[in-house]
Amino acid sequence: MDVIDSIKDARIVEARTLATRSGRLAAGRCLVVGEGLIGQVVTAGARLEYVLSSAGSHTPGLTQKLQAAGVPVHAVREGLLRKVTGGAKPVDWLAVAVLPAEAPAGEAYGDFAVVCEQVADPGNLGTIVRTARALGVRDIVLTDEATDLTSRRVLDAARGAVLDCRVRRFADPARAVHALRGSGFHIVVTSPRGAHLQSMAPLRGRKVALVVGNETDGVSDAVRDAADLVVQIPMAGAVESLNVGVATGISIYELRMRMILTMLTDRIRDTLGRNLTAASHLVQQALDAHLRQIGDLDGAQVILLMVLACERSAPLRQLHRDIGVGAEDFQALLGPLRERGYLTDQDDRVMITRDGEQAVAALWAVQERVEEGLYAGFSAAERTQLTDLLHRVQRNAAQLATSVGQDAASPDVQSPS
Ligand SMILES: C[S@@+](CC[C@H](N)C(=O)[O-])C[C@H]1O[C@@H](n2cnc3c(N)ncnc32)[C@H](O)[C@@H]1O
Repeated sequence: MDVIDSIKDARIVEARTLATRSGRLAAGRCLVVGEGLIGQVVTAGARLEYVLSSAGSHTPGLTQKLQAAGVPVHAVREGLLRKVTGGAKPVDWLAVAVLPAEAPAGEAYGDFAVVCEQVADPGNLGTIVRTARALGVRDIVLTDEATDLTSRRVLDAARGAVLDCRVRRFADPARAVHALRGSGFHIVVTSPRGAHLQSMAPLRGRKVALVVGNETDGVSDAVRDAADLVVQIPMAGAVESLNVGVATGISIYELRMRMILTMLTDRIRDTLGRNLTAASHLVQQALDAHLRQIGDLDGAQVILLMVLACERSAPLRQLHRDIGVGAEDFQALLGPLRERGYLTDQDDRVMITRDGEQAVAALWAVQERVEEGLYAGFSAAERTQLTDLLHRVQRNAAQLATSVGQDAASPDVQSPS
């Protein structure tokens, strides 16, 4: 294999330009230094243009991996790569990697973004990107033109994760906040003096843009003022603040857990059973409120009287089922109706009396008024459809309730041996 031994070789010249930020920006490439890091980024699927390796450095595992990925490897005279990186330590492996393009404005975000406002230290930036990526977050937002995620120190601290994240850059923090809010994000600023405990942050199921600040100044007042929430991670002892990389890791982990819990709670709240129960209570309250204006019977007692007015008499067991209340509640309903002489008992049946019928006539108008109010805004077709749907749910529920006992008794169900 030919060995590159001139500093003027085109590949060495290109690699040297990538040691500067302007060179990286112009070429859309960066340097990945060291055998370990190159191995990691290849495994992670990063695009490498070519690799330069010091003649005499034997690392068959990496060479095979690069060959399998179709990455050309060129041997370089010993000592030459140090001239590319400019450091004091010898360098044996160096790769030229393609930087992912900054995400265009229109491209969709995930449900969590990390906004770095003037985070200055490359080690902290790399830690933030590495931690974000490891916790499943790809969107990194920068709020100025100067922050550089492509330097060797950032790449080292990020263990190459920079090559696998989606970076968006805004000219200033105000524009970043405006754009994120426009994309449906809840803006959550972190500060050691935040008003909310992060673990109790009321997220309400929205996407989260987590803003972390500069090592000395923190998040700017302008961004704090524009935030939906300013949260703190409580600290013990005489500690002024956490390192921004550490704080970001804790925040992503905790807020994402809260997002999942909020989502689960919303789902539970929205189950059919819960919606029907809630609707049933509200309907009952509405009817009771209107009935109280003309007497002291409640909604369930009125419905019971109405059922009896239609059927004249009914077995207690059937009435109980028609009204849909528990056994004890049912007896409590009957008591006052008997006392007023609206009902009489005959064996296991109850009958409506003449006084009962007169009471129903007065109550009927109230019932109809409430029914009309409940259907406000519904078309005739929607009313019929809703009634039909509710009957179907009731039938399915009745079937489900009885099928449990049947399944247990079914000979098809085999018990584990
Ligand atoms: C070193 S701190 C900045 C300290 C700065 N003097 C301040 O008061 O904000 C850097 C960043 O880490 C995050 N941070 C550090 N400690 C935090 C804490 N206890 N709660 C929430 N965020 C914290 C914030 O994003 C903060 O802007």
